[in-house]
Amino acid sequence: MIVSFYKLKFQTDNLYLHNSIIAIFVLNFFMKIKNICCIGAGYVGGPTMAVIALKCPHIKITVVDINKERIDSWNDSNLEKLPVYEPGLADIVSQTRGKNLFFDVDIDSAIKNSEMIFIAVNTPTKTYGEGKGQAADLKYVEICARKIAEISTSDKIVVEKSTLPVRTAEAVKTILDKTGNGVNFEVLSNPEFLAEGTAINDLFKSDRVLIGGDQTESGMLAINKLVEIYENWIPREKIYTTNVWSSELSKLVANAFLAQRISSINSISALCEVTEADVEEVSKAIGMDSRIGSKFLKSSVGFGGSCFQKDILNLVYIAKSLGLNEVAEYWHQVIKINNYQKIRFAKNIMKSLFNTVSGKKISLLGWAFKKNTNDSRESAAIYIADYLIENGAEIHVYDPKVTYSRMLSDLNDLGTRTTVKNRESLFYHNTPLPACFKSHAIAVLTEWDEFKTYNWEEIFDNSIKPAKLFDGRNILDKKKIEAIGFEVYSIGKS
Ligand SMILES: NC(=O)c1ccc[n+]([C@@H]2O[C@H](COP(=O)([O-])OP(=O)(O)OC[C@H]3O[C@@H](n4cnc5c(N)ncnc54)[C@H](O)[C@@H]3O)[C@@H](O)[C@H]2O)c1
Repeated sequence: MIVSFYKLKFQTDNLYLHNSIIAIFVLNFFMKIKNICCIGAGYVGGPTMAVIALKCPHIKITVVDINKERIDSWNDSNLEKLPVYEPGLADIVSQTRGKNLFFDVDIDSAIKNSEMIFIAVNTPTKTYGEGKGQAADLKYVEICARKIAEISTSDKIVVEKSTLPVRTAEAVKTILDKTGNGVNFEVLSNPEFLAEGTAINDLFKSDRVLIGGDQTESGMLAINKLVEIYENWIPREKIYTTNVWSSELSKLVANAFLAQRISSINSISALCEVTEADVEEVSKAIGMDSRIGSKFLKSSVGFGGSCFQKDILNLVYIAKSLGLNEVAEYWHQVIKINNYQKIRFAKNIMKSLFNTVSGKKISLLGWAFKKNTNDSRESAAIYIADYLIENGAEIHVYDPKVTYSRMLSDLNDLGTRTTVKNRESLFYHNTPLPACFKSHAIAVLTEWDEFKTYNWEEIFDNSIKPAKLFDGRNILDKKKIEAIGFEVYSIGKS
């Protein structure tokens, strides 16, 4: 009797298990992601969604933004006018736009009609209130979460693509669950590791794709759905799944480690300049050690970009608010060295011009924070221009991709002086020769390849003597430029 009871129970359990597996399988099949919405059509949202659209022609992707002008530019028939410049991006957009990739301002419809929603909005450093100057401003993320909760009438997987402080998913989930229409939300963290300038290549051949999610049955199902999307082109062993908090924190830590290497070598560049050591030789010598490796050891005028500084400050803020003051101070030093490097470079220009730049023309080659992008957020050029203008210089800039209005608003955003004064001191050129004509000093601030190919003899002939050249990226052949007659200052060389 007892035996037959257990036999029956075993069969029933087995049947239950069997049915559950079938249910999950069926659910999985019917819930295959067919529609994706991405909120935020910026440097991350645009390129990442374009690549997913290319690699997953069976998925319809709608990228939405509150900025109509940006959406119009994404839809412009002239691909030169896309709001983001990245090598290879225009080609992908031309292959996918209007087929399975769409750019729209109708955020509500895109949310409603999607099974998966990426949040790729900006998370800048707070400029007000508690945490001002360090914490990440999460107001745009919160607005997105509230919007998704309000609009959704079916279950959704919400993916954090923006870089967020650890445990943000908890807040997002609370908003979704408490203010939504009773539908089920799964929140995943899928931070983006692309580097601007090489974004398309990075997206095609990611070192890894990181996906964090709840370790529950429904959380694992959601993780699996996102894994399935990436598996269309990323080998499975490169897709790393973790819990949500590890994923959120890993993004901040990755940026902190990368920036730390730059600040480390930049601190050594100052030492090289007074000891006759050559920072490039030191960098090569240490980079040959396989424990150290050679990447991110190029000394420069200082790192820029929208992420490194913001993410480290965020890490500093998190550590401080958890009472980990030594941890906070350790990482803060990376930012301090970067600021030191930028101002040290600007001061060197002034010192070499007999301690005054007042009324002098200084030419800046490059405004973007790195080559192959039109992004100038937190670019070293902004801080160097600001310092020199404050000391009375006229700044003449040429950059192959950054527009005058962008440069001007970068300067205005610093708030050092009035817009009128900035406008009077900043001169934009769309070709390099006029930018350098009759100038007292030329500074190379972005490593654009074209700068290496200029006719430096001609530029020298048209410079005020003694002709000074400051190579903030060590991209020019110092000996050759010196032979022409320039006095050359290179980073980390005596
Ligand atoms: N730029 C990078 O290289 C990079 C790399 C990795 C991660 N990230 C992270 O990705 C996130 C986005 O960065 P980005 O460089 O693309 O920023 P971005 O400023 O270029 O784009 C963000 C876009 O979001 C839009 N937006 C803001 N609030 C919105 C809302 N409520 N509804 C709809 N649209 C809204 C803005 O209008 C803007 O177009 C940030 O968290 C950033 O730290 C950036």
